[in-house]
Amino acid sequence: MKFSSLQQLEGQVAVVTGGASGIGESTSRLFAAEGAAVVVADINAERGERLVADLLAIGARAIFVRTDVTCEDDVARAVQNAVAHFGRLDIMVNNAGVVGAIGSLLHTDASDWKATLSILLDSVFFGIKHAARQMVAQRSGVILSLSSIAGVMGGQGPHAYTAAKHGVVGLTVSAASEFSPYGIRINAVAPAVTVTPMIELVRGSRAAALDYAAAISPLGSAQMPEEIAQTLLFLAGPGAAHITAQTLIIDSGVTRTSAVANDKYHSRPNSFVGPKLAPV
Ligand SMILES: NC(=O)c1ccc[n+]([C@@H]2O[C@H](COP(=O)([O-])OP(=O)(O)OC[C@H]3O[C@@H](n4cnc5c(N)ncnc54)[C@H](O)[C@@H]3O)[C@@H](O)[C@H]2O)c1
Repeated sequence: MKFSSLQQLEGQVAVVTGGASGIGESTSRLFAAEGAAVVVADINAERGERLVADLLAIGARAIFVRTDVTCEDDVARAVQNAVAHFGRLDIMVNNAGVVGAIGSLLHTDASDWKATLSILLDSVFFGIKHAARQMVAQRSGVILSLSSIAGVMGGQGPHAYTAAKHGVVGLTVSAASEFSPYGIRINAVAPAVTVTPMIELVRGSRAAALDYAAAISPLGSAQMPEEIAQTLLFLAGPGAAHITAQTLIIDSGVTRTSAVANDKYHSRPNSFVGPKLAPV
């Protein structure tokens, strides 16, 4: 049997917002290694330029476009740059984010609320809008957005973050309804705690972030950004050809398993609880 050495994204063009750090950086690196031309669209020019230099050094095609995702013109410009430099847009990853407003809802400042929603949700609206304009013309494309387990249940994040990430799930299904007829697939991913600079900031250090991520994982190991990038690669590729309007939860079981059941049921001696019908 002959194996193909084709790269999975050969000839494709991707824009990754927040592409200079964490999940976005891992995605930029993986997509470039798989043959895509990558537009790293981030507000952090220093990290973005450095990453692009790394990618060019391995022979990949990449450019940095300084982009503030709260500014519609910036997001539009990132897409325009993809088309101007590389001729098309196949994959849009709406990834940029921050933790945003924290603390009691009773005292949340309206400007902090709006700033959080702007970075986490307006950005996804802008990304879908401008990517889809190009993709409708091409009649193909994949749009992937970062939600979170905070976007599918309560108690997993701050209020504004939770609201925004639920919004990403809603906009994903709504936009997929409009753009499916053009062959455009639109999905979101919802990771649990993943060890990135965002979580290092929250936990105080990389070591603390690694410990925390492993401790809360039912699988017992910390989720890493490279692993989220692999899921995005799958969703961008032919294995996901008929997957659209979905939010794929990547959480090591956090939202669907519970240690309580181990204590209450699974670790007890095997027996049958409740009246048992006599065999007929
Ligand atoms: N790390 C996690 O545990 C986790 C879990 C679920 C979802 N997410 C989501 O994944 C995405 C990436 O998070 P991360 O953990 O990799 O964070 P990160 O802090 O490592 O990276 C975020 C990137 O977004 C960029 N950014 C922030 N504000 C921006 C703006 N206004 N315009 C453009 N770029 C901006 C930053 O410069 C940075 O490069 C976010 O949407 C986050 O909410 C993260």
